[in-house]
Amino acid sequence: MTRSFNFGEVPKTTYDFLKKFHQRVIGTAVSGNKNWGTNFGKAGEVIEKEFGIPLVIKFEMGGFDNDIKKTKNFLETFTGIL
Ligand SMILES: Cc1cc2nc3c(=O)[nH]c(=O)nc-3n(C[C@H](O)[C@H](O)[C@H](O)COP(=O)(O)O)c2cc1C
Repeated sequence: MTRSFNFGEVPKTTYDFLKKFHQRVIGTAVSGNKNWGTNFGKAGEVIEKEFGIPLVIKFEMGGFDNDIKKTKNFLETFTGIL
């Protein structure tokens, strides 16, 4: 889980983490704000392109019920951990 910053950039802490552990990451949930227009949650797209990690969901604030549902579904489907 990460956020988008400064016109869709991947935060440095996220980038550093992914450089080390990208092979163990199964998907990205990215928070952002729709006020940023086409840059809303763009970090998720950058991560998908650069590291080949699927973008599971973009969400605002703490996520709405539907965002939480989709994220749980993803975890259930791909890992069976819930
Ligand atoms: C300086 C600054 C730049 C930001 N840039 C983006 C951006 O490019 N895209 C985006 O979706 N959200 C952007 N945001 C919103 C943050 O991603 C958002 O605040 C974060 O996901 C946490 O969500 P919350 O503040 O609703 O808790 C930015 C916020 C700040 C303060």
